[in-house]
Amino acid sequence: MTARRYPVPIAVEHGKTYYWCACGQSNTPPFCDGSHQGTSVRPVAYTAPRDKIVFFCGCKKTGQPPVCDGRHKDL
Ligand code: FES
Repeated sequence: MTARRYPVPIAVEHGKTYYWCACGQSNTPPFCDGSHQGTSVRPVAYTAPRDKIVFFCGCKKTGQPPVCDGRHKDL
Protein backbone atom coordinates (compact mmCIF):
# COMPACT_ATOMS: atom_id res chain seq x y z
CA MET A 1 0.00 0.00 0.00
CA THR A 2 1.32 3.44 -0.78
CA ALA A 3 0.45 6.59 1.13
CA ARG A 4 -2.90 8.24 0.40
CA ARG A 5 -3.50 11.82 -0.52
CA TYR A 6 -6.25 12.36 2.06
CA PRO A 7 -6.73 11.78 5.80
CA VAL A 8 -8.54 8.67 7.02
CA PRO A 9 -11.44 9.28 9.45
CA ILE A 10 -11.67 6.64 12.18
CA ALA A 11 -14.14 6.39 15.09
CA VAL A 12 -11.82 5.83 18.07
CA GLU A 13 -12.80 4.54 21.51
CA HIS A 14 -11.91 6.21 24.81
CA GLY A 15 -8.77 4.72 26.34
CA LYS A 16 -7.92 2.47 23.39
CA THR A 17 -4.44 2.74 21.83
CA TYR A 18 -4.01 2.74 18.06
CA TYR A 19 -0.75 2.35 16.14
CA TRP A 20 -0.56 4.60 13.10
CA CYS A 21 1.55 3.42 10.18
CA ALA A 22 4.38 5.88 9.56
CA CYS A 23 6.04 3.98 6.72
CA GLY A 24 3.21 3.91 4.16
CA GLN A 25 3.59 0.16 3.52
CA SER A 26 0.79 -1.18 5.74
CA ASN A 27 -1.93 -3.30 4.15
CA THR A 28 -4.33 -2.10 6.86
CA PRO A 29 -4.00 1.70 6.63
CA PRO A 30 -3.97 3.97 8.49
CA PHE A 31 -2.75 1.46 11.06
CA CYS A 32 0.48 -0.51 11.31
CA ASP A 33 0.46 -4.18 10.29
CA GLY A 34 4.16 -4.82 10.90
CA SER A 35 5.22 -4.19 7.29
CA HIS A 36 7.81 -1.69 8.54
CA GLN A 37 9.98 -4.53 9.87
CA GLY A 38 13.47 -4.36 8.43
CA THR A 39 13.35 -0.57 8.24
CA SER A 40 14.16 2.15 10.77
CA VAL A 41 10.54 3.39 10.72
CA ARG A 42 8.29 2.71 13.71
CA PRO A 43 4.53 3.20 14.13
CA VAL A 44 3.18 6.09 16.22
CA ALA A 45 0.95 5.24 19.17
CA TYR A 46 -2.24 7.22 19.74
CA THR A 47 -4.41 6.72 22.83
CA ALA A 48 -7.92 8.13 22.44
CA PRO A 49 -8.82 10.65 25.18
CA ARG A 50 -12.53 10.06 24.49
CA ASP A 51 -14.84 8.54 21.90
CA LYS A 52 -14.56 10.69 18.78
CA ILE A 53 -13.67 10.79 15.10
CA VAL A 54 -9.95 11.19 14.42
CA PHE A 55 -8.61 12.11 11.00
CA PHE A 56 -5.43 10.08 10.81
CA CYS A 57 -2.82 11.28 8.32
CA GLY A 58 -2.89 9.36 5.06
CA CYS A 59 -0.12 11.16 3.16
CA LYS A 60 2.59 10.54 5.82
CA LYS A 61 3.70 14.17 5.59
CA THR A 62 1.90 15.51 8.65
CA GLY A 63 3.87 17.60 11.10
CA GLN A 64 1.65 16.29 13.93
CA PRO A 65 1.70 12.50 13.59
CA PRO A 66 -0.51 10.57 13.68
CA VAL A 67 -3.22 13.14 12.91
CA CYS A 68 -3.79 15.18 9.77
CA ASP A 69 -2.54 18.77 9.86
CA GLY A 70 -3.71 19.65 6.35
CA ARG A 71 -0.30 19.24 4.78
CA HIS A 72 -1.75 16.95 2.07
CA LYS A 73 -3.17 20.10 0.48
CA ASP A 74 0.35 21.09 -0.53
CA LEU A 75 1.11 17.79 -2.30
FE1 FES B 1 4.05 1.13 8.52
FE2 FES B 1 4.27 -0.38 10.69
S1 FES B 1 3.49 -0.95 8.76
S2 FES B 1 4.83 1.68 10.47
